Parts: sequence; C-alpha cells; structure tokens
Amino acid sequence: MPDERAVYPPAPAVQARAFVPSMADYEATYRRSVEDSDAFWAEQAGRLDWVTPFETVQDWSFEPGDVHIKWYEGGVLNACYNAVDRHVEAGRGGRTAFLFEPDTPGDGDRTITYSDVHAEVQRLANVLRDRGVGRGDRVTIYLPMIPEAAYAMLACARIGAIFSVVFAGFSPSALASRIEDCDSDFVITADEGRRAGRRIALKANVDAALRGCPGVRHVLVVRHTGGDVAWTEGRDVWLDEARETAAAACPCEPMGAEDPLFVLYTSGSTGTPKGVVHTTGGYCVWTSLTHELTFDYHAVEGGAAGDVFWCTADVGWITGHSYIVFGPMINGATQVFFEGTPTYPDAGRFWEVVEKHRVTQFYTAPTAIRALMAKGDEPVMRSDRSSLKVLGTVGEPINPEAWRWYHEVVGEGRCSVVDTWWQTETGGHMLTPLPGATPEKPGSATRPFFGVVPEVLSPDGERLDGEAEGLLVIARSWPGQARTVYRNHDRFVNTYFTAFPGRYFTGDGCRRDADGDYWITGRVDDVLNVSGHRMGTAEVESALVLHEAVAEAAVVGVPHDIKGQGIYVYVTLVEGADATDALRDELRRHVRATIGPIATPDFVQFAPGLPKTRSGKIMRRILRKIGENAPDQLGDTSTLADPDVVASLVQNRRNQP
Ligand code: WT7
Repeated sequence: MPDERAVYPPAPAVQARAFVPSMADYEATYRRSVEDSDAFWAEQAGRLDWVTPFETVQDWSFEPGDVHIKWYEGGVLNACYNAVDRHVEAGRGGRTAFLFEPDTPGDGDRTITYSDVHAEVQRLANVLRDRGVGRGDRVTIYLPMIPEAAYAMLACARIGAIFSVVFAGFSPSALASRIEDCDSDFVITADEGRRAGRRIALKANVDAALRGCPGVRHVLVVRHTGGDVAWTEGRDVWLDEARETAAAACPCEPMGAEDPLFVLYTSGSTGTPKGVVHTTGGYCVWTSLTHELTFDYHAVEGGAAGDVFWCTADVGWITGHSYIVFGPMINGATQVFFEGTPTYPDAGRFWEVVEKHRVTQFYTAPTAIRALMAKGDEPVMRSDRSSLKVLGTVGEPINPEAWRWYHEVVGEGRCSVVDTWWQTETGGHMLTPLPGATPEKPGSATRPFFGVVPEVLSPDGERLDGEAEGLLVIARSWPGQARTVYRNHDRFVNTYFTAFPGRYFTGDGCRRDADGDYWITGRVDDVLNVSGHRMGTAEVESALVLHEAVAEAAVVGVPHDIKGQGIYVYVTLVEGADATDALRDELRRHVRATIGPIATPDFVQFAPGLPKTRSGKIMRRILRKIGENAPDQLGDTSTLADPDVVASLVQNRRNQP
C-alpha cells in the first residue's frame, strides 16, 4: 500500500511563475469548467485560429442507443495551420521548433525552425497531392523518430487526409492489418530506422506487409540511412526526388471541427486493435491546453526565448501525437526531437541532452525511469540538470520508489513531478497534478484536469463517493475524447459505453483517497501494459496459435521490475510436438515476428492442460496467480473441470524465459 502521508507541496520555483499558481485557483477554474462548461470551452477555443467560428460548443450523449460526441460544430479550421503557419505569419518563423537529437550523439544533430517546418510540410503535402491524396483519404505513416514523421502527420492534416501512424517497431503483419483495416492506399516510410546504433529495415518491412495489401498505390520513402532497399517501379517514390518537382506552396484545406484528423490503432481486451478516431477542433483545443497547463509550458519567458520541452515518446503512440506534434506545436513550443533510446550509448544520455539544450520540461515513461534507476545515480550526476522545472510520467502506474528517485535524484528535489493518467482514447491528460498548484503524492495521478468528471463505480455500477476503490469511469465528455472506432461505431459503443450506460468506461481500476486524490491501480480487463505499451492478451494468444506446434495458448501479465508487466505465456502443444527449450525460444521469436519486439513473451510455460470451467472458459485469475508465484492465492478452484491441472502448473512455473 503506497504511503499516502507523503505529500510534496508545489515546488516554489515552479509556483512563482505558474499559470495555475495555487489549489484555490485550480479549484475555482475546475468548478467553472464543469458548472459553466459551455462558456469555459468556448473561451478555450480562442487558443486556436478558426476560419469560421463554431456554432455549438458541445453536443454529446453517452447513452448506448445514442452515443455521439461533437464539439465545436460549425467551426472550420486546419490543424496544421494552427501548429505551423500561424507562428510563421506572426513573425515567429525563426523560432526553433525542433532540436533534433540523433540516435548516436553528434551524428546529424540539427536545429529546425518553424519556417523550416512550414517549407518542408508544404513540399510534402504537394508530393501527396500530386499523387491524388486528398480530403478524407487514409495515409499510413511507418517512420522512425525523425522530423519527417512530424512533417508527414502535419502534411496530411494540411490537405485533410486522415493519417494512421503505425509504430515502426511493429512487424509487417501488424502493419498490414492496420493498412487493411482503414483501407489505406498510401504509405510513407524510410529506407531504414536507427536504434541504439543498429539499423531497422523499415522499407523491407513495408515490402513484406504489402504482399498482402494489393490496394496500396504508392510508398513514399524518406532517405534516412542511405541503406540499400528493394524497389517496386511505379509504386515506390523517393521523397527527396519527388519534392524537387513539387510546388513550394500548398494551401491549408479548411476542415470541419468534427472532420477526422487521424486514426490510431490501440489494443483492447478482445479482437484485433481498434482504429480510434480523433477529430480536429476538440483535439487541438485539448492537446494545446493540457500541454500548456500540465507542464506549465511558457513559450516566451520575459520577452526572451522560452521553455524547452522534451517528450521522449515515439510519434507512433498517442503520447507523440498529442505531446510532440499537436499540443506543443500549436503552442509554438521549442522541443527536443529525439531519435535515440534512454541507455545508448549509456545511461547518461537523457541527462546529457537535458544539459545540452537546457531542457525545462521532461516527459517520459516509468519503465525508462526504472531502467535508469537500476544503473545508479552517477550517470545522472554527470550532467547539469539545473534547467529542469517539471518532470512528467505517463503510460503506466509509477511505483513510489521510482517517483522518489525521479524527484530527488533527477530533479534535485526542486522540480514538480506530474504523473499524468490518460489513454489513446482520451486524446490528452485526464488526471494529473498541475505544477505550482497541486500537492503531489508519489504514485498518485492526483486530480482531474479541467472539464473532467471522474467517478469510481462498484462492479455493479453503483457510484462510490468519498474514499473508495473500484472502476474508473468518466461521467461527461471532454473536447479531446475519441469520437468512434474507424468504420465500426458499434464496437466503440460496446467497448466504452455498454458496461455502465451513460458513462465512459476506462478499463482501469482506481482508488480515491480521503483527500480526493486518485490512484490508478491498473487495467481491470485483459489488456497488458508492458513498458507502457498496451497489448491485448488475445492478440498474443492469436499469434501463438498460428504456430504449428501450438494447440492452445493463454497469456497473462505478471509483475516485472523494469517493464511494469511482463508477458507470461502458457501453451498446450499439439500431439507429437516436443516440449524443448528450443521450441520455447522459437515461440518467443514467432510472437516477436508476428506482432513486434514489444510483444516478446518473457516466460513460456508448456502446459499439458489449462484450468477451465466446466463450460470451457479458461480461468485466467488462476493463471495470473501461478505466473506471479502466488500459489497460495489461487482462490476457489472448485468450479474447475479438472482441478489436477493446477498442481502440475504450479510445479512447472517458469522463472526464466
Ligand atoms: C492505459 C492507456 C496515455 C498515453 C500512453 C498510454 C495506463 C497511462 C497512466 C498513469 C497509471 C496509466 C492505463 C491506461 N496508464 N497512464 N499515469 N498511471 N496508469 O496510452 O496505450 O492508450 O494506454 O495506460 O492503464 O488505461 P495507452
């Protein structure tokens, strides 16, 4: 049980210049944001430049028969215009947008201004347009962490194309299913990516994926490493060649506030990943406001160049969409854009970059903090971190020990730590401290952001007030909320609005303490969170049963010191297959190749049988406890069809791969 008595008051240096400088301010604004919601959100829309003002602020319903979510209807705007053009038009084109930090230090670092982004995005938009891409078309982006990834997203937004970024760590088959699902006929990739000094064959992965996607007309390839690639004439196009014949200027397409901006695939407890749809107006308001307040980001400081923001996420995840590309850029932020990894060339890399660019706000995942904490304090101490003001975390619960190390060692005890809880579906921060206002507690995401109304429910849907533990739901819409699942609104309704009608169900468990602070306890469904990456147990199981030696598979998450959760796999083999260490390795490689390295099982246990109820349902609760090495907590096993199965599973539990 985390220690709730440990309360860290707002850091004085942060508070002195904070946009929200006290709890009284937070509470007054929060009250207004929910009690006078239309007025509050109408005012916040003023953060953006609109072509046509909106007519209605909000129109939504969470009732299962009528789920719809609309914000700022009637409004017309362009997301790319707001993130790029308006800064240039206001004479701020010379401001640094990106401080590009390559995988290997010194190997191609450069400074990119808003004017540079403006020019590159327009060229790229014209390359797409010249090839017939327009409003509403789906473009798949499979790129490493290079500035072109941001240009590609912004170029699509500029011409009204819907982009779908697929994390470059996903396998060809995972890429193919995401291309197929949204019926995309245009892919943007690079020759290769770089990762910790190694090269990743991205174009080759696209080639493999497209063997199953005959509908793709063009593959636009960024020349990044200069590595050799195979080439399909007529289909493949080098970006550096195509941009030479593209016009320099490309107008912004006027888009409706509710026109889709992007689709992003995320895992659920069942089935294939869902294409979560975010739209234009509300998403831009939400990401811009949350970026500014959660990180207390000041674009200009006393008339001089302002803060330097660094979010270490990959643009393949929602964190990169919301807190690298849209939120910060709409706010005209200067950011570190990082191609690398936390421990390459060594565990001091993050802090060297912080010193080099005088980073003020740093945002990363608990898994990275735990991995670095394990390397000791020396790599941190080597660099000057005096520029830091706010340290953020996202993606999974942070254990109080890691929180304290982050606060004390990295932040020298003088920075705010913001533990931000949110999801792909929420578009941006939902529960988070505000630096300068909220007292922080290690392990707690503390309070709701403006406009967010969280509730804790019992499993049968009863609202629990005061101090309580249960299921986390959100009682009303917010501008950044996902609107639907791409071409599958029924799945959207069933996943989020059916368990508790009238509420958005998050899938997370949560506790509210006596002070009203929220503590996320983790997923309550069959979704794993491995190093902050979300994965369905069903996806890993489907991958396993594709292997010829596997008859049946069950996957559970188990506690893991660095990753938060590890993947524990039980497999029943087909007649005649040999339960060998070599097969174990092969199955791990097989899952890795089918989904991607992030899905590689940590433990593979051969199981002669799986614990099932008499109706044939696998009892995961029991498998989870065996994986956790808690055989004394198996609970009631009397409903099992064959209780003997359990004893043999306990006896053969794996504590190595
Ligand atoms: C799930 C959403 C949000 C962007 C990255 C992950 C877990 C996220 C926290 C946090 C505890 C967290 C939840 C959530 N999660 N942030 N601060 N504390 N848990 O987005 O892939 O959509 O995953 O990540 O379980 O439901 P995602």
